[in-house]
Amino acid sequence: MLITQQPVFRNFWYPVVPLEMLKNQQPYSFTLLGEAIVVWLDKEGKPAASKDRCCHRSAKLSLGTVDDGCIVCPYHGWEFDETGECQKVPQISDQNKIPKTYKIQAYQCSERYGYVWVCMGEPLQPIPEIPEAYQDDYRIIPEFYEPWNCAGLRVMENEMDLAHPTFVHTTTFGSEEHPVPDALDVKETDYGLKVIATLGVVNPELQQKNLKMENNETTRTLDIDWFMPFTCCLRINYPNGLTHTVVNTMTPIEDGRSQMVQFCVRNDTEAETKASDAIAFDRQVTLEDKTILESTDFDVPLEIKAEQHIMTDKPGIIMRHRIAALLKAHGETEVRRVYS
Ligand code: FES
Ligand SMILES: [Fe+2]
Repeated sequence: MLITQQPVFRNFWYPVVPLEMLKNQQPYSFTLLGEAIVVWLDKEGKPAASKDRCCHRSAKLSLGTVDDGCIVCPYHGWEFDETGECQKVPQISDQNKIPKTYKIQAYQCSERYGYVWVCMGEPLQPIPEIPEAYQDDYRIIPEFYEPWNCAGLRVMENEMDLAHPTFVHTTTFGSEEHPVPDALDVKETDYGLKVIATLGVVNPELQQKNLKMENNETTRTLDIDWFMPFTCCLRINYPNGLTHTVVNTMTPIEDGRSQMVQFCVRNDTEAETKASDAIAFDRQVTLEDKTILESTDFDVPLEIKAEQHIMTDKPGIIMRHRIAALLKAHGETEVRRVYS
């Protein structure tokens, strides 16, 4: 499946940039589903997004500036507000006479968990709900914001694939003694999928410090949500009561390229575990995944028979069914790469 060829994906929310990165009052350019967009802060300091194209002579607005909450085109200085309406045309003497057709394509935009989320169409689902992110005894730690050369769906199924840690996470938590999970329960939900599982893992030195557990091995009780299409919330519960929740969205840039946006939510304090140490461990884990995931084919086939499966692939199989059903419900057929 080529995501840029399936318009239905425009109808979901994606985090495109940490809010912090807009605080310099400069426009921010991003490519979402193959389309250039621009993001900035409006008059009230709220994020705004639009197509990165001026309606006058099509210049890239992201090369311009932000003035009093409006994005200013770098070519002739027209200014547009967060709704896309043109508020100023320097070449017109009466600013009340700006034609209504002087408008850029604005997109829905919202802040959540410290990130700017954009939906280019009509949202079919709300922004993924992460209840612990609002709880006082939890803290949010921003982790990674970087492009990966792979399909988002490959990463989503990887998060729920409990056969890969033994082979991929050899320097972090993968255990040779636990090639498969002890328990695996998979349920479909309206937003996607929920997996409840337990997996025996290795507990290396940095993790012993991070988890405040001295054992060389431990058990992860996992509660994983997949929010269609490209967000996963991986709750890792440890026997000592610590919860390390990883929230990861693979925001679709274009076919074969996704922006990896990851933060974690933990029920401990900075005095107990330094954010930098928690990030350091997750960095090692994600880099182990990245090498393998970037080697996979980004044109993920939705047809089940096109790849081979084992019992731990159940979540990935359901993901393919759900995406196929989504396309069908919106009158789309799966578009694959054409081989010549
Ligand atoms: S191209 Fe934007 S103002 Fe002319
Ligand atoms: Fe992994």
